[in-house]
Amino acid sequence: MATEILKVNNLKVQHKDHTTSRDIISDISFGLKKNRCLGIVGESGSGKSMTCKAILGLLNNSFDVKGDVIFNDIHLLKADKRKIRHIRGKEISMILQNPMTAFDPLYPIQEQMIETFIENLAVSKKEALNLSLKALEDMYMHCPKDVLKKYPHQLSGGMLQRIMIGIALALKPSIIIADEPTTAVDAINVVKVMEEFTRIKENHNTSMIFISHDLGAVARIADDVLVMKDGEIVEQGETQYLLRNSKNQHTRYLIDTRKALVDRFHLAVGQGEAHAIRSKGYL
Ligand SMILES: Nc1ncnc2c1ncn2[C@@H]1O[C@H](COP(=O)(O)OP(=O)(O)O)[C@@H](O)[C@H]1O
Ligand SMILES: [Mg+2]
Repeated sequence: MATEILKVNNLKVQHKDHTTSRDIISDISFGLKKNRCLGIVGESGSGKSMTCKAILGLLNNSFDVKGDVIFNDIHLLKADKRKIRHIRGKEISMILQNPMTAFDPLYPIQEQMIETFIENLAVSKKEALNLSLKALEDMYMHCPKDVLKKYPHQLSGGMLQRIMIGIALALKPSIIIADEPTTAVDAINVVKVMEEFTRIKENHNTSMIFISHDLGAVARIADDVLVMKDGEIVEQGETQYLLRNSKNQHTRYLIDTRKALVDRFHLAVGQGEAHAIRSKGYL
């Protein structure tokens, strides 16, 4: 069995306000194996984003986080802030659900990329600029020099998402956590972004957590999968095995909903075209 690069034991998250506290994540445990992709699938509100934010210490103090998160023998929930910050930039990169929130609207992309590379990779400004250009070229962007000069609002969600992926890859982290990375991306770019993730998986020594509400996307990329519902893990296992053999009611529900969607798509576009799209693996 592959070794686990990240281990989460008995993670619990509660949201507190003046009078009440509410369980958001109730006692979940899982591991991410080295150089494998773990998918987290579940409906909106099931606790996928909260799980990742809790792991990386990104929740503010209105949340109470308990349990153990162990990355390479380091207890992330107990490590000091400086150490966590370093790990979060260099070792574990998170690609956020909404790319707009990842960039500062007041500065051009170039400045933000350069700052990130200088902070995390200890490179000179000139090297950081070269890395920025290369990161965009690696994402197959046209006119990367022009893109670097733009402000976030001058670029589409899809472009920003690909820039964020480019930055994450350039940092060469041990782990990439991608939270619904195609949400803000239009249909054509979804294919490109998904190809990017497949490339990461195949070419880099990177372990990945890939979060999606779409079981189809997870099935395409993840080796192992966690199914979440109401802040709990209802089932976990090897993706293909689980898709074929799951007896869990909620997993079956997600599989059947997905199937109904694909069937409607077949009806809408006709069997021939659906087959052509499917054969490329996008359905
Ligand atoms: N900032 C917040 N404050 C309080 N509760 C929140 C906050 N963000 C999310 N939640 C709650 O946490 C639960 C899990 O949310 P989330 O992890 O964002 O779901 P998912 O990513 O699976 O769609 C939901 O019940 C949601 O209402
Ligand atoms: Mg989410």
